[in-house]
Amino acid sequence: MEVLIQPDVDRAALLVARIIAAEIRASPKTVLGLATGATMERVYRQLVRMHREEKLDFSRCTTFNLDEYVGLAHDDPNSYHAYMRLHLFSQVNLNPSRTHLPDGAARDHLEEGWRYEKLIREAGGIDLQLLGIGQTGHIGFNEPLSALRSRTREKALTPTTIKQNAANFGGEDKVPRRAITMGVGTIMDSRRCVLLATGAGKADIIAKAVEGPITSMITASALQWHPRCTVVVDEEAAAKLQGQDYYRWIFANEPEWEAYR
Ligand code: F6R
Repeated sequence: MEVLIQPDVDRAALLVARIIAAEIRASPKTVLGLATGATMERVYRQLVRMHREEKLDFSRCTTFNLDEYVGLAHDDPNSYHAYMRLHLFSQVNLNPSRTHLPDGAARDHLEEGWRYEKLIREAGGIDLQLLGIGQTGHIGFNEPLSALRSRTREKALTPTTIKQNAANFGGEDKVPRRAITMGVGTIMDSRRCVLLATGAGKADIIAKAVEGPITSMITASALQWHPRCTVVVDEEAAAKLQGQDYYRWIFANEPEWEAYR
């Protein structure tokens, strides 16, 4: 795992977008794993800008989103299907037949998990998985005690996560209680992971996930085990990391990051 500290939220999102863009340019048929949530909106804004101004071409990419709320139809404005249409799919040249999200309206959730896993396998696996982190340390909706080898399945959301997402739904009581999410094992199978966390509210959980023990109580900590995981944070989210000086040194000195400085 490597941690890259950026001066502010915009620079952090820009760096993540540039990492994704470089991957697409190097390999136009890239299979992207995508995330939703407030943090990702800035990343998608940058990708849309790059598509418009720098001709970033998504036409041969395939995408798989991490999760979807159980019970929400594709056209529900609070669904992650709607989020993705709004922030990315309608604004770049992705082929709609190659964009995928779990079907929250599926009748059989177990079956839906298997179907999704099969689709990912048939696409050749995920090349780059974009991740956020929730207050509970979740990646996707892998809440505490999710098995570190879990696959796409239905998961109950914690009260903390329900509270975190209440504003979008106009109240806690309206937030769905369950989601279909890629498992920690599914995420760990991707060839590269890039996690973005910004703001003071993420400082505690980032310190635990990155520098604490690997535990299913904080599923993001499993990423310490991933062979190629980059964690991008702004100064505020980095505030409680013990290794800050080392992380800053890496970004400032490693040749891999020269083009991004
Ligand atoms: C959603 C997802 C979640 C979010 C996380 C952070 O697809 O994967 O893990 O990334 O809950 O959400 P925000 O960015 O709203 O703080």
